[in-house]
Amino acid sequence: MTKDFLFAEIRKLKGEKNAVILAHNYQVPEVQDIADFVGDSLGLSIEAGKTSADMIVFCGVHFMAETASIISPQKKVLIPDLEAGCSLASSISIEQFKKWKAQHPSAVVVSYVNTSAEIKAESDYCVTSSNAVKVVQVIPEDKEILFLPDKYLGHYIELVTGRKMIIWDGACHVHEKIGNIEFSDMQKKYPDAEFLIHPECGCSTSCLVRSQTEPNGNKMKIFSTEGMLRYAEKSQSDKFVIATETGILHRMKKMAPEKSFYPVSEKSVCEYMKMITLEKLYDSLLYEQYEVKVPEQIANKALLPIKRMLEIV
Ligand code: 13P
Ligand code: SF4
Repeated sequence: MTKDFLFAEIRKLKGEKNAVILAHNYQVPEVQDIADFVGDSLGLSIEAGKTSADMIVFCGVHFMAETASIISPQKKVLIPDLEAGCSLASSISIEQFKKWKAQHPSAVVVSYVNTSAEIKAESDYCVTSSNAVKVVQVIPEDKEILFLPDKYLGHYIELVTGRKMIIWDGACHVHEKIGNIEFSDMQKKYPDAEFLIHPECGCSTSCLVRSQTEPNGNKMKIFSTEGMLRYAEKSQSDKFVIATETGILHRMKKMAPEKSFYPVSEKSVCEYMKMITLEKLYDSLLYEQYEVKVPEQIANKALLPIKRMLEIV
């Protein structure tokens, strides 16, 4: 099947079924191009709540589709490949979480959106990389905080807010590998470039410290994927090194074709995000597969921490 054929069929099916296609910034270029909305975890969750469509085809990973289903339980939420998981979300099971929480009964639980619906249901707040700092700042000073599952994002929040937290030892297998070595190599290669860094990266806290202490530190900025896009669009610079999953470069190049964007590492590819293809998206719409539905009891409990996440933007 050619790309043109698939684009035409997807558009037709979308109209017939009153469906909307939401795609994460890490999706393959052709999926981003046919999507109605492309964004970061927070933007996609907001969009899932706003849409008047009857059906949401979520081109992203499983926890994102679950979150959309919790926000819009009356809509049919589909993911084109059920195997599209997330190593970070899998770094803590519900059993491990319950045991950890029981050891800190009075703590406020702040869960990154990259967690299962079951964990969200037992949390006080959900956050994404774009509002995690703001959410932690609203929690009363005397409260102990359990933050999960990403240790790099957790330590980054601690450094920005000056607030100590108890942090789960989880990581994303793609971002964790983006360390100081990859970073320094690119600095030598592109000394004039600005460096945009996702807080899940292994180097995020050292980059934050360097950004505050080195003479050229103002060239390093830590952002969520959408924050990177917004910043790159407005900045006077014309060269950027991007420290996150490489899929985002497609949108950046489309948004500012006159600027140059380089991935910090060509190897920063999330195989889960790349499981979603145009063919699978077409099949998903055609056969209405695979539905992601969170059991009502879990969804009802998970809605409050998610609502808090959507309120603090
Ligand atoms: P964003 O919230 O920045 O889109 O990140 C999601 C994610 O999975 C990062 O790896
Ligand atoms: Fe999960 Fe990492 Fe892939 Fe993001 S890049 S979806 S955190 S495995």
